[in-house]
Amino acid sequence: MTAIPQALGALRDNLACRGRLGLGLIEGGPAQLERLLALGAPPPAPPATLDLQEPSLEGLALALADCRRCPLHQGRRQVVFGDGPAGAGLMLIGEAPGAQEDKEGLPFVGPAGQLLERMLAAVGLKRAEVYITNLVKCRPPGNRDPQPLEAAACRPFLEAQVRAVAPRVICALGRPASQALLDSDAPISALRGRWHDFQGIPLLPTFHPAFLLRDPARKSEAYRDLKDLARALGQTPA
Ligand code: URA
Repeated sequence: MTAIPQALGALRDNLACRGRLGLGLIEGGPAQLERLLALGAPPPAPPATLDLQEPSLEGLALALADCRRCPLHQGRRQVVFGDGPAGAGLMLIGEAPGAQEDKEGLPFVGPAGQLLERMLAAVGLKRAEVYITNLVKCRPPGNRDPQPLEAAACRPFLEAQVRAVAPRVICALGRPASQALLDSDAPISALRGRWHDFQGIPLLPTFHPAFLLRDPARKSEAYRDLKDLARALGQTPA
C-alpha cells in the first residue's frame, strides 16, 4: 500500500514544480508538456516499483509500453524497445527508430538495418545473436535527431537495459548516440575507431549505417571498427 503515498508525493512535487515555473495547475496537454521540458523541468522519473538496478528486459519493456515521458509519444505508432537476447556479447545502440521501425516495432529493420545486418555478417556476427536498441525508443518527427531532453527521458531505461543485457562490448552507431553515451561533443570522426567506457563496459563508436548508405566511401572505416568488435568478442573476422 505504499503506491498511494508515493503517487501523492510525486503529485505534490509536480504541482510545486509547476508553481515555481509559474505554470497553472490545469493540464495544457502535450503543448504544456513541451513547455515544461523546454523550461528544463526534469522528465518524469521511472516508476518507483521498477527495479532499475537489477532489471529484466521484459519488465523494462512493460514499463515503457505506454511511455509518455517526453513529447515523442505524440507522433509514434509504438515504442521500439529493442531486439535480441539478454546476455548477448555485443549490444548495438543506434539513434532512434525510423518509419519502418515505428511500423514494425523493431529496431533497424529499414534500409539502414539491412546494411547493418550485411556488415555484421561480413565480420562473422549474426543479427540474432546481438542485442540492438536505440538512444530513444520512439520515432522523432521527420526522423530529426533526438533532442537532449528526449534522450534524458529515455536514459534511465537505456542504462537499465544495458545492465539487463550485460554485454561484453557496446557499439554506438553514429554521432547522436555516441555523443550522448559518452557525454561528448566531439565529432563522430574523432570518436569512432577508439575504445571508450560506458558503465564499465568497453564501447566502440562507429559510423551509422544510414550515413554509410549516403557515403559508401566511409564503409572501410566502419568495417575496421566491426572487425575490432568481433575480435573483442573472441572471433577471428575474415
Ligand atoms: N536508425 C536508427 O538509429 N535506429 C533504427 O532503429 C533505425 C534507423
